Amino acid sequence: MPKSQKLVVIGGCGHVGLPLGIVFANCGVNVVLLDVDHEKIKTVNGGRMPFMEKSAQEALEAVIGKTLMATADNSCLEDADVAIVVLGTPVDAHLNPSIADLYGNIDAAIARLPEGALLVLRSTVYPGVTKLVCDRVKSQGRHIHVAFCPERIAEGKALEEIRSLPQIISAYEPEALERVREFFSIINEDLIELNPLEAELAKLFTNSWRYLNFAISNQFYLLAESYDLDFHRIYDAVTRRYPRMKSFARPGFAAGPCLLKDTLQLAAFSGNNFFMGHAAMLVNEGLPNFVVSQLRKSGLSDKTVAILGMAFKGDSDDKRESLSYKLRKLLALESKEVLCTDPYVEDASLVPLEEAVRRADIVIFGAPHSVYQALQVPQGKQVVDVWGFWAEQKEAAVTSRQSL
Ligand SMILES: NC(=O)c1ccc[n+]([C@@H]2O[C@H](COP(=O)([O-])OP(=O)(O)OC[C@H]3O[C@@H](n4cnc5c(N)ncnc54)[C@H](O)[C@@H]3O)[C@@H](O)[C@H]2O)c1
Repeated sequence: MPKSQKLVVIGGCGHVGLPLGIVFANCGVNVVLLDVDHEKIKTVNGGRMPFMEKSAQEALEAVIGKTLMATADNSCLEDADVAIVVLGTPVDAHLNPSIADLYGNIDAAIARLPEGALLVLRSTVYPGVTKLVCDRVKSQGRHIHVAFCPERIAEGKALEEIRSLPQIISAYEPEALERVREFFSIINEDLIELNPLEAELAKLFTNSWRYLNFAISNQFYLLAESYDLDFHRIYDAVTRRYPRMKSFARPGFAAGPCLLKDTLQLAAFSGNNFFMGHAAMLVNEGLPNFVVSQLRKSGLSDKTVAILGMAFKGDSDDKRESLSYKLRKLLALESKEVLCTDPYVEDASLVPLEEAVRRADIVIFGAPHSVYQALQVPQGKQVVDVWGFWAEQKEAAVTSRQSL
């Protein structure tokens, strides 16, 4: 496919859509980011990233107004050669996959796309969705090629990973597969072909595996700490020069917009027989409760607690489904006061770091932002560092001082 053809990214100003659009635009593809969020559209067209993403600001500046633009006008689909759907795929209030909105938006796109266009689903979808979309296209008598190519980046590393990670591509029809193979090889030649149901499961397995992996570490953390043992000393002992424990994750608040909801999608697909997935949810979602129950032992009602880091992970401004907020809710019920701080998250209720640390009796690291590594917490204040990143830093500092 010639690069001069037109790509529309539906949900294009989001965490997946924008980096993907930037990468294609950087390769010379003519990209339109279609979104409903007017604020984000304005920000992107003004050449500014609406969220943190490594190296994206410079990459956006290089293409905006040239091969990249954002709009809310869906007539841009009418002459598109390719449309990629990267809309959110949340679970509903009953924790079941909710696909009605996605279908509605895909129907609207199908109605506008020209004959012969390629429609790529890139959102993480409930298994079987690609088949249903293909059937829908056919039942409407339309000639649109449908493919599913899951996104596997980690937020914050998107630009690098879109080009370095192999891209899984899939389609039911050979012509659609050929089209998507040609299209994705513009940005990455390392392609892995599966059938769509395999590809849908591949994505859910990836996220659920990560979620389970974190749950193992969190379960061991709970175990050790409930006996008042320092988990991180044990972690260090079992991982040091011992290759078989290489994939032993650090414990921490495993959260964010994807891992839990994709484990829930897989649980639903398994007919709720995904025992390890459900166990992982109990462990990971129970970690804030465990932290509170440990603190309760020495009394909480007269204590001020500071949570440092409200994003769902370190060096991110994304607070979606962050367990720091769950922790805040729990602590608000039992402590004298909860002060929350974060250098990146936008939230009017947050206080400056200095104030949080100065006024707190207890300091909890909610997200392991690198800027906290150099933090000096005054003596006499209790520190809770589930992630072990701050303790590790202090230990390294002490060791290097001793070796001077
Ligand atoms: N965030 C990640 O790290 C990540 C990684 C891999 C896969 N995914 C998957 O990618 C999908 C998107 O996730 P995300 O984090 O980018 O979500 P997001 O909320 O950041 O982005 C979605 C975008 O779609 C826009 N939007 C909503 N309704 C729209 C509509 N009707 N028309 C056009 N635009 C609309 C929103 O304004 C938003 O900008 C999900 O399925 C998610 O599971 C996410």
